[in-house]
Amino acid sequence: MNRRTAGLPDSNRNILLFGANGQLGTRLNTLLAAKGTVRAIGHAELDLRDLTKLRALIHETNPALIVNAAAYTAVDAAESDAATAQLVNAEAPRVMAEAARELDALFMHYSTDYVFAGTARAPYAEESPVSPLGVYGASKLAGEQAVTASGAAHLVLRTAWLYSNHGKNFLNTMLRLAAERDELRVVSDQTGCPTYADLVAAASAQMLDGMYDDGNLRTERCGLYHVACQGETTWWGFARRIIELSGYGERVRVLPISTLEYPTPAKRPAYSVLSTAKLERVFGIRLPDWEDGLKRCLAERYTQ
Ligand SMILES: NC(=O)c1ccc[n+]([C@@H]2O[C@H](COP(=O)([O-])OP(=O)(O)OC[C@H]3O[C@@H](n4cnc5c(N)ncnc54)[C@H](OP(=O)(O)O)[C@@H]3O)[C@@H](O)[C@H]2O)c1
Repeated sequence: MNRRTAGLPDSNRNILLFGANGQLGTRLNTLLAAKGTVRAIGHAELDLRDLTKLRALIHETNPALIVNAAAYTAVDAAESDAATAQLVNAEAPRVMAEAARELDALFMHYSTDYVFAGTARAPYAEESPVSPLGVYGASKLAGEQAVTASGAAHLVLRTAWLYSNHGKNFLNTMLRLAAERDELRVVSDQTGCPTYADLVAAASAQMLDGMYDDGNLRTERCGLYHVACQGETTWWGFARRIIELSGYGERVRVLPISTLEYPTPAKRPAYSVLSTAKLERVFGIRLPDWEDGLKRCLAERYTQ
């Protein structure tokens, strides 16, 4: 039987997950277990800059599904380390996609709202013109394009402003600073949509289910999708809600500042809200409003 058309779940079927210890990868690791036998690869087991080892590992595992949640996500550090960003965010996904094509596997990969320049004033659609402002965005765009060009059956999911209770992210930084300070100064002229990583992982699992119809891969559903929460806010608006919802509201003031007052090595889009209409139309999936996502994340944080 053609493994592409065999469908999931099946405990005999191998699933290869990269970036297993990241924000998104941690949750995916749990959810993918319901769909097959997961081989979860973290940075310590394989450095994705080693493309020869990467290719060998994929062929040795012979997966029916490859999920890549690994990425060089240090947006500012990437400005002075373009070679690493390009290897991890573009070359490694290219190798994964080529191997997926050779093995007749489905490839699920992630990208970012930072492929956009941020000059729009309405949510970006999948086909909106891309024009990344920095090295990270450019390397992620090159990754998307390599996957698309590979000929592999693929899903590329662009997401945005990811946070979770796990790892280095804006939510954890705000909560750490709120415990130390009475005043936080946060940029209020960048607009986007904060998205709880666990919701993206859950949507990914649901999309994988929707990729099969009676055991047959629905190739017409392959392609690029925006997967993010609904609504929009600024980093300042996000910070204020974090502080209010976590009980620091009485003591900690959150002051708006401009991007010019908080210079960073990488330029970021002023507006990068993603339209998720395609996700809803094709898969019937709609993530909640960003504030509901935040409430859910915080509720889970305090019960873990
Ligand atoms: N975070 C965001 O705000 C955001 C926004 C939009 C899109 N995305 C995209 O969403 C996806 C998931 O992001 P995330 O926030 O879950 O990322 P994350 O928490 O930074 O996790 C990325 C993982 O990749 C691993 N990694 C980095 N370099 C590697 C290398 N050379 N070899 C092997 N593993 C390596 C990291 O390991 P180490 O930590 O050990 O290096 C980390 O476990 C990525 O494609 C990202 O570009 C993220």
